[in-house]
Amino acid sequence: MTKNPPDIRPSRIAHAGLRQKIMSADAAAAFIENGDHVGMSGFTGAGYPKAIPLALAQHIHAHHDAGKPFRIGVWTGASTAPELDGALATVGGMDMRLPYQSDPTCRARINDGEMAYIDIHLSHVAQYVWFGFLGKLNVAVIEVAGVLEDGRLIPATSVGNNKTWLDQADKVILEVNYGHNLGLEGMHDIYYGTERPPHRKPIPMTHAGDRIGEPYLHCDPSKVIAIVETHLPDRDTRFAAPDEASKRIAEHLMAFLQEEVALGRLPPELLPLQSGVGNIANAVMESLNEGPFNNLQGYTEVLQDGMLAMLESGRMSMASATALSFSAPVMEAFLANIDFYRERIVLRPQEISNHPEVIRRLGIIAMNGMIEADLYGNVNSTHVMGTRIMNGIGGSGDFARNAYLSVFMTPSTAKGGSISCIVPMVSHVDHTEHDVQIVVTEQGLADLRGLSPRQRSRRIIERCAHPDFKPALLDYVERSEANARAGHAGMHTPHLLDEALSWHSQFEKTGSMLKAGEAPLS
Ligand code: COA
Repeated sequence: MTKNPPDIRPSRIAHAGLRQKIMSADAAAAFIENGDHVGMSGFTGAGYPKAIPLALAQHIHAHHDAGKPFRIGVWTGASTAPELDGALATVGGMDMRLPYQSDPTCRARINDGEMAYIDIHLSHVAQYVWFGFLGKLNVAVIEVAGVLEDGRLIPATSVGNNKTWLDQADKVILEVNYGHNLGLEGMHDIYYGTERPPHRKPIPMTHAGDRIGEPYLHCDPSKVIAIVETHLPDRDTRFAAPDEASKRIAEHLMAFLQEEVALGRLPPELLPLQSGVGNIANAVMESLNEGPFNNLQGYTEVLQDGMLAMLESGRMSMASATALSFSAPVMEAFLANIDFYRERIVLRPQEISNHPEVIRRLGIIAMNGMIEADLYGNVNSTHVMGTRIMNGIGGSGDFARNAYLSVFMTPSTAKGGSISCIVPMVSHVDHTEHDVQIVVTEQGLADLRGLSPRQRSRRIIERCAHPDFKPALLDYVERSEANARAGHAGMHTPHLLDEALSWHSQFEKTGSMLKAGEAPLS
């Protein structure tokens, strides 16, 4: 076995026995076998192993070149980066991926049918594994910032499902990344109190910033078969400068939140904020940073640049998450001031950051992106034209269903205006009308609370649809209602079933939803 640790002393592996397990990424990757289920660390490009998956991809490639099969199941916290998802998908090394991804090569493999993907609520994953719904977890590959003398681990920039992987896997491989600042130590809060039903107890958290666990991950040293030392940065997650549509969406939301405060439905400091992934969510955070609210709190899944800026400015007093997903310059600023942030950030396992009980108790304001919404408020967050996965549901369902206020945002059109993001019927449902309270586009904001389906359809068209699509949407609604009145369908949620998905099928045939409903499709 090759022993090739890089020269990065002093050692961050304080456990004498575990220091004996240091080896090259290549040697460590050789422990992973064809058919294994491998639980890897990583959440939105933070804290994922960086050397072993690349070495593993080479092994797999060599096997395939020799005509030998080699495919594994890869389970993570959420999305990773090119060194993990990209590398393994490129060599066709994954037969199963879960619970979330956002890598272009991985996405292409899934949509080509070459790789299976299970898109799961992020809070459900631990339970799936404890009870064996996914089969046995063979190996855990976990990136950490260091190893203590007694074998406990200093987590890196994400916690995700690491606690579960370390607990459930037969074998553990660690990547100790010296690139992670040791100032991270103490930022994490690993809760070991989740029991299996029927022995569950309330999770003892009443404020977003409560610390209920301990700063380290437990790891049985006898399960550790290899340690690889690295010095590598996390993915550089860049955000586009907010465009006009994002700014308008943020403005609508700011005005709405101010009205809610004025009506006494929200306190002046709002309620803990959950912010989804992507540019629009980040733009909303930027607006909040310039807005009228102070003493804000975050209870979210991922801390992006926008929320960190709010902590820096003092608009936000604390934020709880499971991962830090910053652009490189913001990561640098974060590290330069890490003592300040350690007082204000809590990083938790995703089973707690996304826990329905805690989300409901704290009364979260959940703000997530979407692909499309329909006239009745059903939301599709994951599937383009109903069949091609984009990323996955991630934590949006954990938050939307249990939040005090559930907001979904999108520009009113996509692909240069050829697609309406408000459609007669969504082509895939992630969030039902029951979990969607506010829909926002750059055109306006529709508050759907207290409205019946037919009232919702008028409100969504009036407030959120793009003018290019408004007449066709209204025409669809009126004809659906006339059809129902004529006794051909129900009046509660009127639809023209032959036409409901015709906007999507027209797009698939012609590349545009414009003129949807006007010409019969051939
Ligand atoms: N039909 C087809 N494509 C659409 C579309 C629609 N109705 N709406 C958007 N798209 C395409 C865009 O054109 C863009 O494609 P491109 O990458 O080829 O340019 C892509 O989807 C992303 O859209 P964008 O407007 O840039 O949105 P975003 O970065 O805000 O992401 C989601 C939107 C829905 C993909 C993203 O929020 C997501 O993955 N959500 C699910 C997971 C989640 O909510 N996680 C957070 C929970 S804590």
